[in-house]
Amino acid sequence: MSPRMSIVYLNGEYLPIREACVSVLDRGFLFGDGVYEVLPAYGGHLFRLHEHLARLQNSLAGIRLENPHSLSDWKHLLNQVVARNGGGDQVVYLQVTRGVASREHAFPQHVRPTVFAMSNPLANADAARGVKAITARDIRWELCNIKAITLLPNALVRQEAAEAGATEAILHRDGAVTEGAASNVFVVGAREVATPPKSAQLLPGITRDLVLELLYEAQVPCDERTVTVEELRSAREIWITSSSREMVPVVELDGIKVGDGRPGPIFEQTMRLYQDFKRRVREGQAD
Ligand code: PDD
Repeated sequence: MSPRMSIVYLNGEYLPIREACVSVLDRGFLFGDGVYEVLPAYGGHLFRLHEHLARLQNSLAGIRLENPHSLSDWKHLLNQVVARNGGGDQVVYLQVTRGVASREHAFPQHVRPTVFAMSNPLANADAARGVKAITARDIRWELCNIKAITLLPNALVRQEAAEAGATEAILHRDGAVTEGAASNVFVVGAREVATPPKSAQLLPGITRDLVLELLYEAQVPCDERTVTVEELRSAREIWITSSSREMVPVVELDGIKVGDGRPGPIFEQTMRLYQDFKRRVREGQAD
């Protein structure tokens, strides 16, 4: 669907994206003062809605902004956005900012937050071939568990990746992998699949949690633990996970092949389980 045709939600109204306007005094625009979520819908069914809304609540609490909607309001609103854009497989973006006020760093009083949601078609074209990634120093702040719209460091490292002909930048701090510019990271070593543990250094990915669930269920040895950059460089497989890209294998890191340079067997196995899970979401049997 072209962006021209898409219907978005803005502050209580559903309208064509071209008609959706936000004030230049919005604190999202001036300060990046807001949080967001990205969640897929499969066959029109929102995926892990409660988990995404719980993370949204944590992000809002993290920036001391009251949740403008109840769970049932959010559910209705997001389902409307999916339905009004034709159902099927989509990726929904929602954003809450502190609202419109004269420019002053400290919080304004009695201001209505700006609530926006849009949707785009979802397609994971990269899973079959895999992607290239680079490593980069994690230059972000100390609250990476908050899904803040303030994404300039993420944009800078993602641009570095793009200029190197790569799709993602895998970030590291003090010798340990944190996450991708917009994804979580898994490595397959000789003994197990590993991913860095949840902390303020990374976003607690909803896709990451599902992948761990699938691995545990399939009794594939896996662990949430520190992953060093050396381990990343010698991994048999590297995967990145996110709501918009699902699971994608990294087949080249900093110009060097990962394993034999093709998606690995543990990836293929887990991806089959992921696809099966998606099928059940589409049929309304899982979420
Ligand atoms: N980003 N880490 C970061 C920094 C992210 O931005 C994302 C997702 C993830 C994966 O989280 P999840 O599995 O819940 O999508 C991890 C979204 C897709 C984005 O910014 O577009």
